[in-house]
Amino acid sequence: MRQRPMRQQNGPHGSDAFTYLTQDADAYGSLEIAGTSYEIGFDALAEKLGDLTGTRWLDFGAGAGRSSLFLRSLGATLVFGVDHNYTMVQRAKLQRVPKVAYALIGQTLPVANESMDGAISCSVYTEIPSKRAMTIVSAEIYRVLKPGARFFLMAANPKSIGRMYKSFTRIGSVEHLSSGSRVRCVITTPERVVEVEDHYWTLDDYQDVLQAVGFEVRAADTPTSLKDSFVGTDESIIGPFLILTCFKESPE
Ligand SMILES: C[S@@+](CC[C@H](N)C(=O)[O-])C[C@H]1O[C@@H](n2cnc3c(N)ncnc32)[C@H](O)[C@@H]1O
Repeated sequence: MRQRPMRQQNGPHGSDAFTYLTQDADAYGSLEIAGTSYEIGFDALAEKLGDLTGTRWLDFGAGAGRSSLFLRSLGATLVFGVDHNYTMVQRAKLQRVPKVAYALIGQTLPVANESMDGAISCSVYTEIPSKRAMTIVSAEIYRVLKPGARFFLMAANPKSIGRMYKSFTRIGSVEHLSSGSRVRCVITTPERVVEVEDHYWTLDDYQDVLQAVGFEVRAADTPTSLKDSFVGTDESIIGPFLILTCFKESPE
């Protein structure tokens, strides 16, 4: 019988943050981008990011390393993937890919002020249990970015609740949710099904938090896909991901 993962007791962002056990980290690590629902988000992100040659990028909530390798594949000269989950960081470190480094973090990023050319955070903010915790995270990301740098926040589309996607389903219906409500997300990986306890946040919630720490939010996209690989699931109807394009303002 499949066991439900236990919750984190005293992580840096409160007792409500979900924790991945070893079997979850291994299963998540088996989840590729190509051919999965995540491909839609990462393809749109790749288009926005363009060629990253010569730049240093932060991957906030790197998990098993998939999103960090994605940045490296776009040419980033250095990728720093950070995560508060020990098991995920250990899993990511098994990759040993040159110019991709991982670190376990608490509330503060071990990164100098204004030292990164850009940052991404993919499928992370839905795991953050409060707007206060999202604000702390966002302020740290803002701090380490160079003026004028971009931050892309990719999260499950708030309108994706109840939709059946090829790779995941967020259980429930939006009428019964309010900001911060818990949402069960069932992810299908090649190894096994992983259940993650997420939170429901709206576009306004994300914008409030990002603007409060100084980001300018320039775009919010929810790309869909008509690819044959998604026939029979909902990727063509409601985009599985919301992508926010944010800028750290440059001084005049
Ligand atoms: C669903 S995984 C996504 C991993 C990776 N970004 C990807 O797209 O493959 C989310 C990761 O975010 C991490 N995470 C969630 N909240 C975090 C926080 N406040 N600080 C650091 N990491 C966090 C979790 O531990 C988990 O490894």
